[in-house]
Amino acid sequence: MARPTTVFVCSACAAETPRWMGQCPGCGEWNTLNEETRAKSPAGKAGAPTPRAASKPLRLADVQAQRYERLQTGIGELDRILGGGLVPGSLVLIGGSPGIGKSTLTSMALGNLEGAGRRTLYVSGEESAAQIRLRAERLPGAALQVPVLAETDLDTVLATMEAERPEVCVIDSVQTLHAADLTGASGSVGQVREVADRITRLAKARGIAVLLVGHVTKEGALAGPRVLEHLVDCVLQFEGERERTYRTLRALKNRFGSTNDVGVFEMKSGGLVEVQDASARFVSEATRAPGSVVLAAMEGSRPLLVEVQALVSPSELVPPRRVCNGIDRNRLALVLAVLARHAGIGAGSADVFVNVAGGVRVDEPGADLAVALAVASAVRGITVGSEQTPLACFGEVGLTGELRSVGHPDRRLAEAKKFGLGPVVQPGPETPTLRAAVRAALGAPASRVAA
Ligand code: TYD
Ligand code: MG
Repeated sequence: MARPTTVFVCSACAAETPRWMGQCPGCGEWNTLNEETRAKSPAGKAGAPTPRAASKPLRLADVQAQRYERLQTGIGELDRILGGGLVPGSLVLIGGSPGIGKSTLTSMALGNLEGAGRRTLYVSGEESAAQIRLRAERLPGAALQVPVLAETDLDTVLATMEAERPEVCVIDSVQTLHAADLTGASGSVGQVREVADRITRLAKARGIAVLLVGHVTKEGALAGPRVLEHLVDCVLQFEGERERTYRTLRALKNRFGSTNDVGVFEMKSGGLVEVQDASARFVSEATRAPGSVVLAAMEGSRPLLVEVQALVSPSELVPPRRVCNGIDRNRLALVLAVLARHAGIGAGSADVFVNVAGGVRVDEPGADLAVALAVASAVRGITVGSEQTPLACFGEVGLTGELRSVGHPDRRLAEAKKFGLGPVVQPGPETPTLRAAVRAALGAPASRVAA
Protein backbone atom coordinates (compact mmCIF):
# COMPACT_ATOMS: atom_id res chain seq x y z
CA MET A 1 0.00 0.00 0.00
CA ALA A 2 1.23 3.47 -0.76
CA ARG A 3 2.52 5.13 2.40
CA PRO A 4 1.28 8.69 2.86
CA THR A 5 4.12 11.17 2.72
CA THR A 6 4.31 14.46 4.50
CA VAL A 7 5.32 17.62 2.68
CA PHE A 8 5.42 21.23 3.79
CA VAL A 9 3.73 23.65 1.42
CA CYS A 10 4.17 27.42 1.49
CA SER A 11 0.85 29.25 1.67
CA ALA A 12 2.33 32.22 -0.16
CA CYS A 13 4.08 30.67 -3.15
CA ALA A 14 3.10 26.97 -2.92
CA ALA A 15 6.74 25.84 -2.85
CA GLU A 16 7.20 22.41 -1.28
CA THR A 17 9.88 21.18 1.08
CA PRO A 18 10.25 17.77 2.69
CA ARG A 19 11.07 19.32 6.10
CA TRP A 20 9.58 22.16 8.09
CA MET A 21 11.50 25.41 7.95
CA GLY A 22 10.85 28.80 9.48
CA GLN A 23 11.47 30.55 6.20
CA CYS A 24 10.17 29.42 2.84
CA PRO A 25 13.09 28.61 0.52
CA GLY A 26 10.94 29.61 -2.43
CA CYS A 27 9.77 33.12 -1.62
CA GLY A 28 11.58 33.96 1.61
CA GLU A 29 8.36 34.50 3.60
CA TRP A 30 8.41 33.49 7.26
CA ASN A 31 6.02 31.04 8.93
CA THR A 32 4.17 30.14 5.78
CA LEU A 33 5.01 26.42 5.59
CA ASN A 34 2.09 24.13 6.47
CA GLU A 35 2.19 20.40 6.74
CA GLU A 36 0.18 18.37 4.26
CA THR A 37 -0.05 14.65 3.85
CA ARG A 38 -0.66 13.03 0.53
CA ALA A 39 -0.67 9.53 -0.85
CA LYS A 40 2.38 8.66 -2.89
CA SER A 41 1.31 8.48 -6.48
CA PRO A 42 2.23 5.26 -8.25
CA ALA A 43 3.31 7.37 -11.21
CA GLY A 44 6.05 8.75 -9.02
CA LYS A 45 8.01 5.52 -9.41
CA ALA A 46 11.18 5.79 -11.40
CA GLY A 47 11.06 4.37 -14.88
CA ALA A 48 11.69 5.20 -18.49
CA PRO A 49 9.27 7.80 -19.89
CA THR A 50 6.68 6.30 -22.23
CA PRO A 51 7.40 7.28 -25.83
CA ARG A 52 4.82 9.60 -27.39
CA ALA A 53 4.05 10.55 -30.97
CA ALA A 54 5.40 13.98 -31.87
CA SER A 55 2.94 16.80 -32.44
CA LYS A 56 3.10 19.30 -35.32
CA PRO A 57 3.41 22.94 -34.27
CA LEU A 58 1.28 25.42 -36.22
CA ARG A 59 2.31 28.81 -37.59
CA LEU A 60 0.36 31.47 -35.66
CA ALA A 61 -1.09 32.89 -38.86
CA ASP A 62 -2.63 29.50 -39.60
CA VAL A 63 -4.24 29.15 -36.20
CA GLN A 64 -8.00 29.58 -36.24
CA ALA A 65 -8.74 32.14 -33.55
CA GLN A 66 -12.14 31.69 -32.02
CA ARG A 67 -14.23 34.81 -31.68
CA TYR A 68 -16.04 34.46 -28.39
CA GLU A 69 -19.55 35.48 -27.79
CA ARG A 70 -19.50 37.18 -24.43
CA LEU A 71 -22.09 36.39 -21.80
CA GLN A 72 -23.45 39.60 -20.32
CA THR A 73 -23.95 39.38 -16.57
CA GLY A 74 -26.28 42.36 -16.67
CA ILE A 75 -24.15 44.09 -14.04
CA GLY A 76 -22.66 46.92 -16.07
CA GLU A 77 -19.60 47.52 -13.91
CA LEU A 78 -18.78 43.81 -13.75
CA ASP A 79 -19.15 43.37 -17.52
CA ARG A 80 -16.97 46.40 -18.15
CA ILE A 81 -14.21 45.12 -15.87
CA LEU A 82 -14.33 41.70 -17.49
CA GLY A 83 -13.81 43.42 -20.84
CA GLY A 84 -17.37 43.08 -22.12
CA GLY A 85 -18.79 40.09 -20.28
CA LEU A 86 -17.85 36.52 -19.43
CA VAL A 87 -15.95 34.47 -21.98
CA PRO A 88 -17.27 30.87 -22.28
CA GLY A 89 -14.80 28.36 -20.88
CA SER A 90 -12.93 30.98 -18.87
CA LEU A 91 -12.20 31.02 -15.17
CA VAL A 92 -12.68 34.19 -13.18
CA LEU A 93 -11.44 34.31 -9.62
CA ILE A 94 -13.21 36.82 -7.38
CA GLY A 95 -11.20 37.43 -4.23
CA GLY A 96 -12.21 39.46 -1.23
CA SER A 97 -12.48 39.39 2.52
CA PRO A 98 -15.51 37.75 4.16
CA GLY A 99 -18.70 39.81 4.15
CA ILE A 100 -17.62 42.09 1.32
CA GLY A 101 -20.40 40.88 -0.99
CA LYS A 102 -18.88 38.17 -3.20
CA SER A 103 -21.87 35.85 -2.82
CA THR A 104 -24.24 38.74 -3.42
CA LEU A 105 -22.45 39.83 -6.59
CA THR A 106 -22.23 36.34 -8.04
CA SER A 107 -25.86 35.54 -7.13
CA MET A 108 -27.00 38.72 -8.86
CA ALA A 109 -24.94 37.91 -11.96
CA LEU A 110 -26.43 34.40 -12.17
CA GLY A 111 -29.93 35.76 -11.58
CA ASN A 112 -29.54 38.14 -14.52
CA LEU A 113 -28.08 35.43 -16.75
CA GLU A 114 -30.86 33.02 -15.82
CA GLY A 115 -33.37 35.75 -16.57
CA ALA A 116 -31.77 36.19 -19.98
CA GLY A 117 -32.32 32.51 -20.74
CA ARG A 118 -28.85 31.20 -19.92
CA ARG A 119 -28.28 27.94 -18.06
CA THR A 120 -26.64 28.62 -14.73
CA LEU A 121 -25.55 26.75 -11.61
CA TYR A 122 -24.67 28.09 -8.19
CA VAL A 123 -22.50 25.73 -6.14
CA SER A 124 -22.08 26.67 -2.51
CA GLY A 125 -19.90 24.91 -0.01
CA GLU A 126 -20.48 27.62 2.56
CA GLU A 127 -24.19 28.05 2.87
CA SER A 128 -27.20 25.76 2.79
CA ALA A 129 -29.70 26.05 -0.03
CA ALA A 130 -32.11 27.69 2.43
CA GLN A 131 -29.59 30.39 3.29
CA ILE A 132 -28.91 31.05 -0.37
CA ARG A 133 -32.65 31.35 -0.96
CA LEU A 134 -32.96 33.93 1.80
CA ARG A 135 -30.30 36.05 0.12
CA ALA A 136 -31.85 35.61 -3.32
CA GLU A 137 -35.21 36.83 -2.00
CA ARG A 138 -33.63 40.22 -1.41
CA LEU A 139 -32.10 40.41 -4.87
CA PRO A 140 -33.68 41.75 -8.04
CA GLY A 141 -34.23 39.77 -11.24
CA ALA A 142 -34.55 36.04 -11.57
CA ALA A 143 -32.25 35.29 -8.61
CA LEU A 144 -34.79 32.77 -7.27
CA GLN A 145 -34.76 30.80 -10.53
CA VAL A 146 -31.06 29.92 -10.26
CA PRO A 147 -30.41 26.20 -9.64
CA VAL A 148 -28.28 25.71 -6.54
CA LEU A 149 -26.17 22.88 -5.22
CA ALA A 150 -25.02 22.97 -1.60
CA GLU A 151 -22.10 20.57 -1.70
CA THR A 152 -18.48 20.39 -0.63
CA ASP A 153 -17.36 17.20 -2.35
CA LEU A 154 -15.43 18.06 -5.49
CA ASP A 155 -16.32 14.88 -7.38
CA THR A 156 -20.04 15.44 -6.81
CA VAL A 157 -19.71 19.04 -7.95
CA LEU A 158 -17.85 18.04 -11.11
CA ALA A 159 -20.36 15.29 -11.88
CA THR A 160 -23.22 17.75 -11.42
CA MET A 161 -21.57 20.29 -13.69
CA GLU A 162 -21.06 17.57 -16.28
CA ALA A 163 -24.70 16.49 -16.05
CA GLU A 164 -26.28 19.94 -15.91
CA ARG A 165 -23.93 21.59 -18.44
CA PRO A 166 -24.50 25.13 -17.24
CA GLU A 167 -23.16 27.96 -19.38
CA VAL A 168 -22.12 29.87 -16.30
CA CYS A 169 -21.29 28.32 -12.94
CA VAL A 170 -20.40 29.92 -9.63
CA ILE A 171 -18.25 28.05 -7.12
CA ASP A 172 -18.63 29.68 -3.70
CA SER A 173 -15.98 29.21 -2.49
CA VAL A 174 -12.92 27.41 -3.79
CA GLN A 175 -11.70 26.98 -0.21
CA THR A 176 -14.71 24.97 0.88
CA LEU A 177 -14.57 22.27 -1.78
CA HIS A 178 -12.77 19.07 -0.91
CA ALA A 179 -11.07 16.55 -3.16
CA ALA A 180 -11.55 13.15 -1.53
CA ASP A 181 -8.32 11.70 -2.91
CA LEU A 182 -6.18 14.33 -1.17
CA THR A 183 -5.72 14.17 2.56
CA GLY A 184 -5.21 17.86 3.32
CA ALA A 185 -8.02 19.83 4.95
CA SER A 186 -10.33 21.95 2.76
CA GLY A 187 -8.69 25.27 2.07
CA SER A 188 -5.13 23.97 2.29
CA VAL A 189 -2.86 24.89 -0.59
CA GLY A 190 -2.88 21.39 -2.02
CA GLN A 191 -6.67 21.15 -1.89
CA VAL A 192 -7.29 24.60 -3.33
CA ARG A 193 -4.90 23.94 -6.19
CA GLU A 194 -6.39 20.53 -6.96
CA VAL A 195 -9.96 21.86 -6.81
CA ALA A 196 -9.15 24.78 -9.12
CA ASP A 197 -7.16 22.59 -11.47
CA ARG A 198 -9.92 20.03 -11.96
CA ILE A 199 -12.61 22.67 -12.32
CA THR A 200 -10.45 24.45 -14.90
CA ARG A 201 -10.09 21.29 -16.96
CA LEU A 202 -13.83 20.64 -16.97
CA ALA A 203 -14.64 24.28 -17.70
CA LYS A 204 -12.28 24.40 -20.68
CA ALA A 205 -13.49 21.07 -22.03
CA ARG A 206 -17.18 21.95 -21.79
CA GLY A 207 -17.03 25.69 -22.43
CA ILE A 208 -18.44 26.59 -19.01
CA ALA A 209 -17.65 30.07 -17.73
CA VAL A 210 -16.77 29.66 -14.05
CA LEU A 211 -16.80 32.35 -11.40
CA LEU A 212 -14.58 31.07 -8.63
CA VAL A 213 -15.03 32.81 -5.29
CA GLY A 214 -11.99 32.91 -3.02
CA HIS A 215 -11.48 34.33 0.46
CA VAL A 216 -8.47 36.35 1.38
CA THR A 217 -7.83 37.01 5.00
CA LYS A 218 -5.94 40.10 6.12
CA GLU A 219 -2.84 38.04 6.83
CA GLY A 220 -3.33 35.83 3.77
CA ALA A 221 -3.22 32.96 6.26
CA LEU A 222 -5.72 30.80 4.44
CA ALA A 223 -4.26 29.09 1.40
CA GLY A 224 -4.57 32.27 -0.56
CA PRO A 225 -6.10 32.54 -3.97
CA ARG A 226 -2.60 33.74 -4.80
CA VAL A 227 -1.64 30.17 -5.69
CA LEU A 228 -4.49 30.21 -8.20
CA GLU A 229 -3.63 33.39 -9.97
CA HIS A 230 -1.63 31.77 -12.75
CA LEU A 231 -4.29 29.11 -13.24
CA VAL A 232 -7.26 31.35 -13.93
CA ASP A 233 -7.90 33.74 -16.81
CA CYS A 234 -9.02 36.67 -14.78
CA VAL A 235 -8.52 37.77 -11.19
CA LEU A 236 -10.95 40.27 -9.76
CA GLN A 237 -10.49 41.83 -6.37
CA PHE A 238 -13.43 43.06 -4.37
CA GLU A 239 -12.32 45.67 -1.85
CA GLY A 240 -13.81 47.97 0.70
CA GLU A 241 -14.67 47.81 4.32
CA ARG A 242 -17.50 45.70 5.54
CA GLU A 243 -19.03 48.47 7.59
CA ARG A 244 -18.86 50.93 4.72
CA THR A 245 -21.31 50.95 1.88
CA TYR A 246 -18.90 51.54 -1.01
CA ARG A 247 -17.03 48.65 -2.58
CA THR A 248 -14.61 48.67 -5.47
CA LEU A 249 -14.08 45.86 -7.91
CA ARG A 250 -10.86 45.82 -9.90
CA ALA A 251 -9.16 43.40 -12.25
CA LEU A 252 -5.66 42.35 -11.21
CA LYS A 253 -5.28 40.08 -14.20
CA ASN A 254 -7.39 39.75 -17.31
CA ARG A 255 -6.60 37.62 -20.33
CA PHE A 256 -9.60 38.98 -22.21
CA GLY A 257 -9.54 42.66 -21.34
CA SER A 258 -7.62 45.40 -19.60
CA THR A 259 -6.68 45.58 -15.95
CA ASN A 260 -7.20 49.30 -15.76
CA ASP A 261 -10.82 49.53 -14.87
CA VAL A 262 -12.43 49.81 -11.52
CA GLY A 263 -16.09 49.47 -10.70
CA VAL A 264 -17.71 51.14 -7.73
CA PHE A 265 -20.64 49.50 -5.98
CA GLU A 266 -22.81 50.38 -3.05
CA MET A 267 -24.28 47.70 -0.77
CA LYS A 268 -27.97 48.37 -0.28
CA SER A 269 -30.81 46.36 1.17
CA GLY A 270 -31.61 44.99 -2.29
CA GLY A 271 -28.08 43.88 -3.12
CA LEU A 272 -25.21 45.66 -4.81
CA VAL A 273 -26.00 48.77 -6.79
CA GLU A 274 -23.59 50.19 -9.33
CA VAL A 275 -22.42 53.69 -8.58
CA GLN A 276 -22.27 55.29 -12.01
CA ASP A 277 -21.01 58.66 -10.95
CA ALA A 278 -18.91 57.99 -7.90
CA SER A 279 -17.21 61.40 -8.12
CA ALA A 280 -20.53 63.19 -7.71
CA ARG A 281 -21.24 61.21 -4.54
CA PHE A 282 -17.89 61.80 -2.98
CA VAL A 283 -17.75 65.50 -3.83
CA SER A 284 -21.26 66.19 -2.57
CA GLU A 285 -20.38 64.45 0.69
CA ALA A 286 -17.05 66.29 1.04
CA THR A 287 -16.85 68.39 4.19
CA ARG A 288 -15.82 72.04 4.28
CA ALA A 289 -13.54 72.00 7.30
CA PRO A 290 -9.84 72.15 8.09
CA GLY A 291 -8.16 68.89 7.13
CA SER A 292 -10.33 68.13 4.12
CA VAL A 293 -9.26 68.25 0.48
CA VAL A 294 -10.49 66.55 -2.68
CA LEU A 295 -8.10 64.30 -4.56
CA ALA A 296 -8.51 64.01 -8.31
CA ALA A 297 -7.44 60.38 -8.52
CA MET A 298 -7.25 57.97 -11.40
CA GLU A 299 -8.88 54.63 -10.84
CA GLY A 300 -7.52 52.77 -13.81
CA SER A 301 -8.62 54.70 -16.86
CA ARG A 302 -11.35 56.59 -15.02
CA PRO A 303 -10.89 59.79 -13.06
CA LEU A 304 -12.43 59.71 -9.60
CA LEU A 305 -12.77 62.52 -7.10
CA VAL A 306 -12.43 61.41 -3.49
CA GLU A 307 -12.21 63.31 -0.26
CA VAL A 308 -9.02 62.94 1.76
CA GLN A 309 -9.31 63.92 5.41
CA ALA A 310 -6.62 64.47 8.01
CA LEU A 311 -6.74 65.01 11.73
CA VAL A 312 -3.73 66.15 13.73
CA SER A 313 -4.12 66.06 17.48
CA PRO A 314 -1.79 66.19 20.49
CA SER A 315 -0.57 62.75 21.46
CA GLU A 316 0.09 61.02 24.76
CA LEU A 317 1.99 58.28 23.03
CA VAL A 318 5.66 57.99 22.18
CA PRO A 319 6.04 57.48 19.30
CA PRO A 320 2.84 59.23 18.19
CA ARG A 321 0.23 57.45 16.14
CA ARG A 322 0.24 57.48 12.35
CA VAL A 323 -3.04 55.93 11.29
CA CYS A 324 -4.30 55.80 7.75
CA ASN A 325 -7.23 54.33 5.89
CA GLY A 326 -7.27 53.98 2.14
CA ILE A 327 -3.64 54.99 1.56
CA ASP A 328 -0.34 53.29 2.14
CA ARG A 329 1.19 53.80 5.60
CA ASN A 330 4.69 54.22 4.24
CA ARG A 331 3.46 56.84 1.81
CA LEU A 332 2.01 58.80 4.74
CA ALA A 333 5.32 58.63 6.60
CA LEU A 334 7.14 59.89 3.52
CA VAL A 335 4.73 62.75 2.95
CA LEU A 336 4.91 63.81 6.61
CA ALA A 337 8.71 63.85 6.46
CA VAL A 338 8.83 65.95 3.28
CA LEU A 339 6.15 68.26 4.64
CA ALA A 340 8.21 68.90 7.77
CA ARG A 341 11.59 69.14 6.09
CA HIS A 342 10.77 71.06 2.92
CA ALA A 343 7.49 72.87 3.52
CA GLY A 344 8.00 73.89 7.13
CA ILE A 345 4.89 72.10 8.40
CA GLY A 346 5.74 69.46 10.95
CA ALA A 347 3.27 67.28 12.76
CA GLY A 348 5.96 66.84 15.40
CA SER A 349 4.83 64.66 18.27
CA ALA A 350 1.14 64.89 17.37
CA ASP A 351 -1.00 61.94 16.29
CA VAL A 352 -1.82 62.02 12.59
CA PHE A 353 -4.89 60.31 11.15
CA VAL A 354 -5.55 60.26 7.42
CA ASN A 355 -8.66 58.79 5.87
CA VAL A 356 -9.97 58.48 2.35
CA ALA A 357 -13.70 59.01 2.74
CA GLY A 358 -16.18 56.39 1.60
CA GLY A 359 -13.90 53.43 2.29
CA VAL A 360 -12.16 53.83 -1.06
CA ARG A 361 -8.53 52.82 -1.45
CA VAL A 362 -6.22 54.95 -3.60
CA ASP A 363 -2.97 53.27 -4.47
CA GLU A 364 -1.29 55.80 -6.66
CA PRO A 365 1.48 58.35 -6.18
CA GLY A 366 -0.88 61.13 -7.28
CA ALA A 367 -2.48 60.93 -3.83
CA ASP A 368 0.65 62.33 -2.10
CA LEU A 369 -0.21 65.98 -2.57
CA ALA A 370 -3.74 65.49 -1.25
CA VAL A 371 -2.40 63.82 1.87
CA ALA A 372 0.15 66.62 2.32
CA LEU A 373 -2.40 69.40 1.87
CA ALA A 374 -4.96 67.71 4.11
CA VAL A 375 -2.36 67.41 6.88
CA ALA A 376 -1.13 70.97 6.31
CA SER A 377 -4.71 72.24 6.47
CA ALA A 378 -5.32 70.28 9.67
CA VAL A 379 -2.09 71.48 11.31
CA ARG A 380 -2.89 75.11 10.52
CA GLY A 381 -6.60 74.78 11.20
CA ILE A 382 -7.37 76.49 7.91
CA THR A 383 -10.19 75.42 5.62
CA VAL A 384 -8.79 75.20 2.12
CA GLY A 385 -10.51 75.83 -1.20
CA SER A 386 -12.77 78.58 -2.40
CA GLU A 387 -15.84 79.97 -0.69
CA GLN A 388 -18.14 77.44 -2.30
CA THR A 389 -16.09 74.39 -3.15
CA PRO A 390 -13.39 72.29 -1.49
CA LEU A 391 -9.86 72.37 -2.84
CA ALA A 392 -8.96 69.76 -5.43
CA CYS A 393 -5.42 68.57 -6.07
CA PHE A 394 -3.20 65.78 -7.34
CA GLY A 395 0.54 65.19 -7.68
CA GLU A 396 3.40 63.10 -6.43
CA VAL A 397 5.66 64.40 -3.68
CA GLY A 398 9.39 63.79 -4.19
CA LEU A 399 11.94 63.36 -1.43
CA THR A 400 13.63 66.67 -2.20
CA GLY A 401 10.36 68.55 -1.78
CA GLU A 402 9.55 68.79 -5.48
CA LEU A 403 6.15 68.05 -6.98
CA ARG A 404 6.23 65.47 -9.72
CA SER A 405 3.71 65.10 -12.47
CA VAL A 406 1.48 62.04 -12.60
CA GLY A 407 -0.48 60.34 -15.37
CA HIS A 408 -3.53 61.86 -17.09
CA PRO A 409 -3.43 65.42 -15.66
CA ASP A 410 -5.94 66.54 -18.29
CA ARG A 411 -8.53 63.93 -17.34
CA ARG A 412 -8.12 64.70 -13.65
CA LEU A 413 -8.53 68.41 -14.34
CA ALA A 414 -11.57 67.83 -16.52
CA GLU A 415 -13.22 65.75 -13.79
CA ALA A 416 -12.57 68.46 -11.19
CA LYS A 417 -13.94 71.14 -13.56
CA LYS A 418 -17.02 69.00 -14.23
CA PHE A 419 -17.92 69.28 -10.56
CA GLY A 420 -17.10 72.95 -10.36
CA LEU A 421 -13.91 72.53 -8.38
CA GLY A 422 -11.15 75.00 -9.07
CA PRO A 423 -8.50 76.20 -9.11
CA VAL A 424 -6.85 72.81 -8.88
CA VAL A 425 -3.44 72.55 -7.22
CA GLN A 426 -1.17 70.38 -9.34
CA PRO A 427 2.52 70.08 -10.30
CA GLY A 428 3.39 72.90 -12.69
CA PRO A 429 5.41 76.09 -13.20
CA GLU A 430 3.55 77.95 -10.42
CA THR A 431 3.75 75.11 -7.95
CA PRO A 432 6.95 73.20 -8.68
CA THR A 433 7.47 72.32 -5.03
CA LEU A 434 5.40 71.14 -2.11
CA ARG A 435 6.20 74.40 -0.30
CA ALA A 436 4.70 76.37 -3.20
CA ALA A 437 1.65 74.09 -3.29
CA VAL A 438 1.09 74.55 0.45
CA ARG A 439 1.36 78.31 0.01
CA ALA A 440 -1.09 78.22 -2.88
CA ALA A 441 -3.57 76.12 -0.92
CA LEU A 442 -3.33 77.73 2.48
CA GLY A 443 -2.75 81.22 1.18
CA ALA A 444 -0.04 81.95 3.72
CA PRO A 445 3.71 81.69 3.72
CA ALA A 446 4.64 78.26 4.94
CA SER A 447 7.02 78.92 7.75
CA ARG A 448 5.39 78.32 11.11
CA VAL A 449 5.99 74.87 12.58
CA ALA A 450 3.24 73.39 14.70
CA ALA A 451 4.06 71.99 18.09
P1 TYD B 1 -22.14 38.32 1.16
O1 TYD B 1 -22.38 38.45 -0.30
O2 TYD B 1 -22.65 37.09 1.81
O3 TYD B 1 -20.56 38.45 1.43
P2 TYD B 1 -19.38 37.40 1.10
O4 TYD B 1 -19.93 36.33 0.24
O5 TYD B 1 -18.32 38.21 0.39
O6 TYD B 1 -18.87 36.88 2.39
O7 TYD B 1 -22.81 39.58 1.88
C1 TYD B 1 -22.13 40.58 2.55
C2 TYD B 1 -22.99 41.45 3.40
O8 TYD B 1 -23.91 42.18 2.63
C3 TYD B 1 -23.80 40.73 4.44
O9 TYD B 1 -23.32 41.14 5.70
C4 TYD B 1 -25.20 41.18 4.27
C5 TYD B 1 -25.12 42.35 3.33
N1 TYD B 1 -26.22 42.44 2.37
C6 TYD B 1 -26.88 43.63 2.22
O10 TYD B 1 -26.60 44.63 2.88
N2 TYD B 1 -27.90 43.72 1.29
C7 TYD B 1 -28.28 42.66 0.53
O11 TYD B 1 -29.19 42.77 -0.29
C8 TYD B 1 -27.57 41.41 0.71
C9 TYD B 1 -27.94 40.22 -0.11
C10 TYD B 1 -26.55 41.35 1.62
MG1 MG C 1 -20.20 34.32 0.74
